[in-house]
Amino acid sequence: MDLFNVYKRWNIEPVRGAGSTLWDAAGQEYLDLYGGHAVISIGHCHPHYVAAVREQIGKLGFYSNAVLNGLQDVLAEKLGRISGYDPYHLFLCNSGAEANENALKLASFHTGRSKVLAFGGAFHGRTSGAVSVTDNPKIRAPFNATDHVDFVPLGNLEAAEKALSTGEYAAVIIEGIQGVAGIQVPSDVFLKELRSLCDRTGTLLVLDEIQSGCGRTGRFFAHQHAGVKADLVTMAKGLAGGIPIGAVLISPDIQASYGLLGTTFGGNHIACAAAIAVLEVIEQEDLVSKAGQLGAWFEAQLKGDPALVEYRGKGLMIGLEIKPEFVGLRDRLLQEKHIFTGASGERVIRLLPALNLPGEGARQFVEAWKELTR
Ligand SMILES: Cc1ncc(COP(=O)(O)O)c(C=O)c1O
Repeated sequence: MDLFNVYKRWNIEPVRGAGSTLWDAAGQEYLDLYGGHAVISIGHCHPHYVAAVREQIGKLGFYSNAVLNGLQDVLAEKLGRISGYDPYHLFLCNSGAEANENALKLASFHTGRSKVLAFGGAFHGRTSGAVSVTDNPKIRAPFNATDHVDFVPLGNLEAAEKALSTGEYAAVIIEGIQGVAGIQVPSDVFLKELRSLCDRTGTLLVLDEIQSGCGRTGRFFAHQHAGVKADLVTMAKGLAGGIPIGAVLISPDIQASYGLLGTTFGGNHIACAAAIAVLEVIEQEDLVSKAGQLGAWFEAQLKGDPALVEYRGKGLMIGLEIKPEFVGLRDRLLQEKHIFTGASGERVIRLLPALNLPGEGARQFVEAWKELTR
């Protein structure tokens, strides 16, 4: 058997990591500004995280949701307090797509409606429901029908109002900051107006914070910069530092019958221990503010840079839209400077580093950037 060929991969295999540094088997060192796609929120192999996961797997690795699991309660309490989403309920699953599936299912169950409004450029995952609200027909099979989904351009309030005022929509789903679309930030005014449109039309607001959450933008959730609160918030990626997890934060107004949602692995002991450790590190090391500060430093260094069309993003969720003559820069950063970065298409370099990226790493990137673009 060989691997199903669905990923474009670099010909590099990291075998060890510490903080924002990776090494391959030959001992070559890399600076990680990609964070394994926004997953490595507290850096690789943080000692507190490693100890917590080791301890838990040596005690009890798994039991099903048929029994009590105090770790889930600890996680719910911590997440509610740190995020400001209290009193909300927590449902735990295994991935971002699954979190979105469950949020949309709950919204439909709660409202009795079947339609969902999503935005141009949106990415919410690859499973059936999640991909149906994702604005990319290329990653949809015929089975992933979009009969219940309408898309309007991000930021177009008039179009959103026209759709929602029909009263047919269970939910609007929106990313705190669009990642795959090349770091597109919805304005505070747009999010506020969307909130009030949802209130007026009995539609639930679902905030996908899978990439933009967990403190990355300088607030625990990106939408909190706008001062709005969602009915449902979805999380995954950075929440458990690499152990698969998905989470839905659910308004106390929303109820479900027994059995409507469920999963074998969701909320398992190792994932919960990992997520608790991540939140402890974020709190103890004040990483939400640090992400905001380091993000401001990057912006001061790179906004208006001659190689850029635009600098976008908030905190450590950064999109660098490069001029056409710099296409290929991401590969050069890796090959010549040994720096991992993310991308959205050929023209946007995405930085999604650990929230505790050392200042030295940030300076190394800016120097490399200047050397390669001047
Ligand atoms: C905003 C957003 N939503 C959902 C997902 C899907 O998450 P997962 O790959 O864990 O299913 C992603 C993954 O990149 C994402 O960025």
